[in-house]
Amino acid sequence: MPRKRVAVLISGRGSNMTALIEAAKAEDYPADICVVMSNRPDAAGLAHATAAGIATVTIDHAVFGKNREAFERAMQRDLQSRSIDLVCLAGFMRLLTPWLVRQWLGRMLNIHPALLPAFKGLHTHEAALQTGVKIHGATVHFVVPEMDSGPIICQGAVPVHDADTPRTLAARVLAVEHRLYPLALRLVAEGRVRIESGRCFVAGMAGGDGTMIVPSAEGCEPSR
Ligand code: GAR
Repeated sequence: MPRKRVAVLISGRGSNMTALIEAAKAEDYPADICVVMSNRPDAAGLAHATAAGIATVTIDHAVFGKNREAFERAMQRDLQSRSIDLVCLAGFMRLLTPWLVRQWLGRMLNIHPALLPAFKGLHTHEAALQTGVKIHGATVHFVVPEMDSGPIICQGAVPVHDADTPRTLAARVLAVEHRLYPLALRLVAEGRVRIESGRCFVAGMAGGDGTMIVPSAEGCEPSR
């Protein structure tokens, strides 16, 4: 099967982008990162992409002022000109209009730093600490017009520690994101993800490796 042609859209640091670029170096990976597109000329990830030999494009949303449609049409033209099959949003911090989302239904992925549907939007780690959840994490999902709401492809969970700050929690979640996004892209690019009634079903995947109890119940549970 030919490798899928992927565009990664970023707005900043680009560490998830780097994780995807690294994963795509493997001979058996089913996708090529063909372009990294940024809506901000100062996105640090652009330099990393260039250093990795990946084409970069900046489509500065500020140049288009309030004309969101013209901004998105410029992106769409570029994506089409490169025959892109799949789009990965990786810290891309612009809301997309239903028009652009519809062009990519089932072909646009996003990574979100929380276990959706909990903590949509921004400041997810602060929200997790404020509400006191004991398990937090990250989600890769297909993009639909409603923000942070599409069918979930995969999720990774981490414990929340009592001493966590938003920074320490973000770092723990980010490490999971870097494993999760390459996995999600692989599954989608291999055609193993079927969407049915708003749910993703993944062919040939086990359900995960066990239960996580936080705080750890070790030593507190009756021995079996
Ligand atoms: C990541 O934590 C990603 O999940 C988050 O932004 C960060 C980007 O980091 N995305 C969102 O909050 C989207 N709403 P990166 O640029 O190093 O990949």
